[in-house]
Amino acid sequence: MTEHIKIVEVGPRDGLQNEKQFVDSAVKIELVDRLSAAGFANIEAASFVSPKWVPQMADGAHVMAGIARRPGTIYSVLVPNLRGFEGALAARADEIVIFGAASEAFSQRNINCSIAESIARFEPVAAAAKEAGLRLRGSISCALGCPYQGETPVAAVVDVAERLLRLGCDEIDVADTIGVGTAAQVGRVLRAVGQVADLGTRVSGHFHDTYGQALANILAALDCGVRIFHSSVAGLGGCPYAKGATGNVATEDVLYLLRGQGLDTGIDLDAVVDIGQWISERIGRPTSSRAGRALALK
Ligand code: HMG
Ligand code: MG
Repeated sequence: MTEHIKIVEVGPRDGLQNEKQFVDSAVKIELVDRLSAAGFANIEAASFVSPKWVPQMADGAHVMAGIARRPGTIYSVLVPNLRGFEGALAARADEIVIFGAASEAFSQRNINCSIAESIARFEPVAAAAKEAGLRLRGSISCALGCPYQGETPVAAVVDVAERLLRLGCDEIDVADTIGVGTAAQVGRVLRAVGQVADLGTRVSGHFHDTYGQALANILAALDCGVRIFHSSVAGLGGCPYAKGATGNVATEDVLYLLRGQGLDTGIDLDAVVDIGQWISERIGRPTSSRAGRALALK
């Protein structure tokens, strides 16, 4: 049987959050619905964060209310605190994503608190998510490098991973927020994280593609046994608190790679290419996906 890889499509959240022009809620809703129709079983659909911090995500409740739920699809949302959790619960999110960092400086810039304070803040959120029977995911930003502190020590990543697992996270994301990591480093970090979490079922690779390393990093992660990856249609994205970082690795490129590796994702690549073209037109810029561009010309 072909081995299955879980793809978490983060375009509607990570992909759009950094757009300067407000993207209409109707476009966000249509994006999520087009993605679920293309076969994505995991879609990061919105954030319930402070609208002062990330204005683009201010319409999370509206987006969640407007989407056509596809049975079996898990719609996840980012939540920084209990207030966000209440919004996520009311919006009927399936999975809560708490997001910390392996770098103190980035934690301060992104969520305005230290790593230790963030874990304390996540504790009641995690308990409430479990109580409500929701899946819980924990993201570790700057797991490979930080825009303010440089390369991240492996021990710092393992430390945050352990703390998130202790909070009850079902899954943890090793995130290269600014896309600086290279394959050998990915191997070192993941092998270390593998000492505290099962790489095959509970750890994902979330790679931004700023330095063009994301596909190589995915191959390195696959080699380590990771079977969950995040990507963004058309390579949309960036973090408002990580200057210069570009989008996530493009979903089209990842699907093309995985198909070549003989791995199954359950997602229709041609449909994703069309979605990439569509959303790129909507936000008025060409796709960042190389495979998407090539396949659209065929
Ligand atoms: P703060 O300013 O320290 O908190 O922000 P606060 O409690 O003083 O709140 C400030 C204001 O926001 C208040 O409003 C609150 O009510 C409101 P005011 O009284 O001034 O009118 N507020 C909220 N509103 C709606 N929903 C909420 C909420 N919480 C407070 N949940 C805080 C602290 C964590 C809230 C803020 O820093 C924040 O929202 N940060 C989010 C930043 C963010 O979303 N970054 C991008 C996502 S992370 C990412 O992209 C990385 C990832 O992709 C992985 C990777 O690549 O690394 C996941
Ligand atoms: Mg990200």
